[in-house]
Amino acid sequence: MSDRFTIAAFAGSLRTRSYNKALLRAAVAHAPSSLDIQPFDLADMPLYNGDVEDAGDPPPVQALKETLHAADGLLIVSPEYNASMTAVTKNAIDWASRPPKPTALAGLPVAVTGATPGRLGTARMQGHLRVSLANTNARVMAQPQLYVANAGEVFDEDLKLQDEATQQFLTRFLESFATWVAPPQAA
Ligand SMILES: Cc1cc2nc3c(=O)[nH]c(=O)nc-3n(C[C@H](O)[C@H](O)[C@H](O)COP(=O)(O)O)c2cc1C
Repeated sequence: MSDRFTIAAFAGSLRTRSYNKALLRAAVAHAPSSLDIQPFDLADMPLYNGDVEDAGDPPPVQALKETLHAADGLLIVSPEYNASMTAVTKNAIDWASRPPKPTALAGLPVAVTGATPGRLGTARMQGHLRVSLANTNARVMAQPQLYVANAGEVFDEDLKLQDEATQQFLTRFLESFATWVAPPQAA
């Protein structure tokens, strides 16, 4: 078994100055050496449509499915919209959950987090996201849970993660995910 794991990752926001994209960049920067986090851009992902699917997966969907099949794990960094995940996040999960079987999410180790300028740190979104992912048979890390609140304060003007406590928690979160992806082998 390799000692470095490929982690596909996406942010569920399309805007340029997204705090969640910034958190994903911080995750790349703070990842333990055993994780190679590779962001996947959802900007070109079409909305799920069964007619489109019947005609054959469009290239962005093919690329997402191939990326997930080739990955050892998935990191989802999503904003919270109206107490749930964004349409961008849900749409990616919906496409990835589709045949052929085994689907790209079945059995895949997944970590979820998110950032918001609000005070609840995307907690409500993460609950919904976990329910959706459970339905796909993804293997979602339960603990630790990382909620990034007050994003306007923990990121600076250049969207760099400046808050030291959040940096430390992010590092611990990713170290735990590395163990979740590759549990220690029994001797
Ligand atoms: C339609 C909509 C609904 C929102 N609902 C919530 C919410 O329920 N909880 C929350 O913390 N923030 C909410 N927000 C604020 C987002 O957290 C904020 O816009 C955030 O910056 C979006 O993430 P991004 O910076 O990665 O694009 C909402 C924003 C929009 C546009």
